[in-house]
Amino acid sequence: MSAPKLSLTTTSAAAADAGAVVIGTVQDGEDVALAPGAEDVDAAFDGRLAEVLATLGATGKPDEVVKLPTIGRLAADVVVAAGMGKAGELGPEQVRRAAGAASRALAGTRRVVSTLSTVDLSAAAEGAVLGAYAFDEFRSERGDAPVERVDLVNPADGSAKDHRAALKAATAIAEAVTTTRDFVNTPPNHLYPASFAERAAALANDAGLEVEILDEKALRKAGFGGVLGVGMGSTRPPRVVRIAYRGPKARKKVALVGKGITFDTGGISIKPASHMEEMTSDMSGAAAIVATVVLAAKLRYPLEIVATVPMAENMPSGAAYRPGDVLTMYGGKTVEVLNTDAEGRLILADAIVRAGEDEPDYLIETATLTGGQIVSLGRRTPGIMGSDEFRDRVAAIAKATGEGGWPMPLPEELRRDLDSKLADLSNVTGHRWGSMLAAGLFLREFVPEGLPWVHIDIAGPAYNNGSPWGYTAKGGTGVPVRTIAAVLADIAENG
Ligand code: BES
Ligand code: MN
Ligand code: ZN
Repeated sequence: MSAPKLSLTTTSAAAADAGAVVIGTVQDGEDVALAPGAEDVDAAFDGRLAEVLATLGATGKPDEVVKLPTIGRLAADVVVAAGMGKAGELGPEQVRRAAGAASRALAGTRRVVSTLSTVDLSAAAEGAVLGAYAFDEFRSERGDAPVERVDLVNPADGSAKDHRAALKAATAIAEAVTTTRDFVNTPPNHLYPASFAERAAALANDAGLEVEILDEKALRKAGFGGVLGVGMGSTRPPRVVRIAYRGPKARKKVALVGKGITFDTGGISIKPASHMEEMTSDMSGAAAIVATVVLAAKLRYPLEIVATVPMAENMPSGAAYRPGDVLTMYGGKTVEVLNTDAEGRLILADAIVRAGEDEPDYLIETATLTGGQIVSLGRRTPGIMGSDEFRDRVAAIAKATGEGGWPMPLPEELRRDLDSKLADLSNVTGHRWGSMLAAGLFLREFVPEGLPWVHIDIAGPAYNNGSPWGYTAKGGTGVPVRTIAAVLADIAENG
């Protein structure tokens, strides 16, 4: 996908030679007002821009985009006014969403000047790129070309060097989110364990990282019973990809794990046909982890990071695992499979045990794990579980990034519902209650004692099956790349 090229400019937005100038609007009580950065554009309209926009119906509400021809008052052809919500609530996420909505509305425009960067440069940059995202790889005819170039007006404060650094980081972050979206949006006949592993390895190799791919033979030899059990119903055998990054002056080691089910039919405990195609997104956790470790390398985080990414396709067939099977997981624990649709936790358990062998200081794992996440928190808010302190730290960071996230408990009384009649553990409880939490409790059994860990359930947030909004396109969203990247940055800084 071709992302817009970003650069910094000191030219006045009113004088800039471009197809469009993007400004922000806010809700000021009942009125629409201009966000900071639109002053010279307003002056070109004799200080009456807010009034003109109000006449056109602008309110400043989020996701509102109003276009106004400049009829020669500016060098650009149109002013694009992007709503940012309430004036008192203006923060980076509001800028990111407005920039995204503007970029989307500007498809077909070659060159755009954005004043949103004067409010928050990084957010305006990320939003501009992510809002322009389109996945056209499988269309014979592409739609309107995304914006080609966005000139971001320099913020008044901070040095030129700071601005360049912020732009570089924002570009890399947007690229990681885009990579994740591309993986998620690639259909399951094109993205299956072997091809996913190869693409992940190519990406990591290009970033100078160490990569190891365990194929089915290597997995059998090492005893990855969860990954093999889930993967054996498919003609396309499973993989586990390991990617290692050793940053400069690393004092902490972080293990990353992500669920890579390239398609989840449910297996023998098959899912209903309605919306089953959305299970192409069941590798979103894996995609986010691969993109994030590559991002950490590009931004040279002073950390050691090892990603362990299990990949399998969950299919029903004569070779598939069945309800009643007992699997011996990597490390030796046994699991009675009562529902083959609770497959994510099985491949994750293997990966978590393997990741624990590296003796990390933190373990971050993410997965499209349960429908219960959507039931309890909705489609946009990840459920965050784990060891108490680290869970709360990650949840606070998730909220700050704008991706969202909410801390959820692991209630002890649910643990006994995972007891098995013949094995160490069953993969599901016998009831529907607290299914997101039960899945978290299952995973906890495989986390080394005392290791700070977090499990981020992104069943809903990873995939937008509705209309585009803000900088979020239809399909893969790239959540939780920005959260994990911010957690890594926080660990690099504060230990
Ligand atoms: N991949 C699904 C979870 C999911 C549901 C992701 C909806 C995205 C949207 C997972 O493998 C699954 O099937 N979970 C079951 C577990 C149940 C059998 C205990 C669920 O949540 O229904
Ligand atoms: Mn499933
Ligand atoms: Zn699944």
